[in-house]
Amino acid sequence: MRTQVVIVGAGPAGLLLSHLLGLDGIDSVLVERQTAEYVQARIRAGILEAGTVELLRDAGLGARLDVEGMEHRGIHLQWPEHRHHVDFADLIGRSVTVYGQTEVTKDLMAAREKAGRPAYYSADGVTLHDVTGKPSVTFVDSDGKARRIDADVVVGCDGFHGPSRASIPDPQVWERTYPFAWLGVLADVAPSTDELIYAWHPDGFAMHSMRSPRVSRFYLQVAPDEDIAAWSDDRIWAALSERLGVPGWTLETGPITEKSVLPMRSFVATPMRHGNLYLAGDAAHIVPPTGAKGLNLAVADVALLARALTAAVRGDDRLVDAYSETALRRVWRCTHFSWWMTSMLHRHGDDFDARLQLAQLQRTVTSEAAAKELAENYAGLPL
Ligand code: APR
Ligand code: PHB
Repeated sequence: MRTQVVIVGAGPAGLLLSHLLGLDGIDSVLVERQTAEYVQARIRAGILEAGTVELLRDAGLGARLDVEGMEHRGIHLQWPEHRHHVDFADLIGRSVTVYGQTEVTKDLMAAREKAGRPAYYSADGVTLHDVTGKPSVTFVDSDGKARRIDADVVVGCDGFHGPSRASIPDPQVWERTYPFAWLGVLADVAPSTDELIYAWHPDGFAMHSMRSPRVSRFYLQVAPDEDIAAWSDDRIWAALSERLGVPGWTLETGPITEKSVLPMRSFVATPMRHGNLYLAGDAAHIVPPTGAKGLNLAVADVALLARALTAAVRGDDRLVDAYSETALRRVWRCTHFSWWMTSMLHRHGDDFDARLQLAQLQRTVTSEAAAKELAENYAGLPL
């Protein structure tokens, strides 16, 4: 089989890239290791920056988002006895939208099927060949048939554990592993808050997020090697009530439908291009979820790359030649912001560290300049 762009990985980055290229008349083929059901079922963060919402709408993917997405003016920052609302809309005129990544993936999958763009799911042994010359990708398809796709360009959208990054010789890698993890909880209960609560607490960080008016999403800071079996539903609700509690406020509880421990790391690999191989999304970088940047950064990479590849097909290589450097400017901005939110809100170190965190929180909710810096980064810099 031959195509213009072969995309390894059909998560949000791969699916969106295929869609955007298709809008510009560029053919692509997706090659995904898992089944479509598996990809769609992944529970991930659900905050869309203003720029992401605009891009999805412009790409014809905003129908359900406009109905089911919940627009939030800002977030609540909290420490014991204190809860402060940071209003992004007042501060910088931009808001964010709560819309689960699984919903974005569902919309992207539906668009792919409607457009009839080819995708191989359950592809085994995906291997990249000759990425600096005439690239191809080989694999065994779901029927056990050996396949080869020849392409002008290969794009690695295969996440942190995919093979594409390994096809870049001598990459420069930066990594920070944090001394804590998140216990993620999904519960069938109406949120007890209008907008997200990020809470600093002596026992550890806690967050109150949501998926819909009837489904709440929570996170608790736990040890990196935490045994989830040690966390009964009662213990989870007690910890959430303690860490999220402020005078006069009650946390509503309900049936817990999912719980899992999520690792926390920062990771950046450069360059994001090698010959005719490009990387986008988690294949090139990982951010701790505290700043809700993972999906939004994947969207930014893909928006940039789709524009660059379209220009290259039309004979102008300036954008593809600048892709890695341009993408990495935003990657490092979002990596810093995610590290900053994570370091400010999670208990680690000694009491001196705790006092520094509380001073930073106090500054952020009392200084307009400090609050604007948080707002601009959280709501997202223009794409
Ligand atoms: N062959 C083919 N596909 C692969 C392989 C492989 N060897 N290895 C991984 N994949 C697929 C995965 O199954 C997954 O569907 O690549 C896809 C990568 O998708 P994501 O990990 O979701 O990464 P990305 O599309 O960049 O989206 C980033 O998703 O992981 C979250 O927090 C992250 O929100 C961010 C967003
Ligand atoms: C989520 O809803 O899963 C979520 C929201 C905000 C974050 C991280 C996760 O910063």
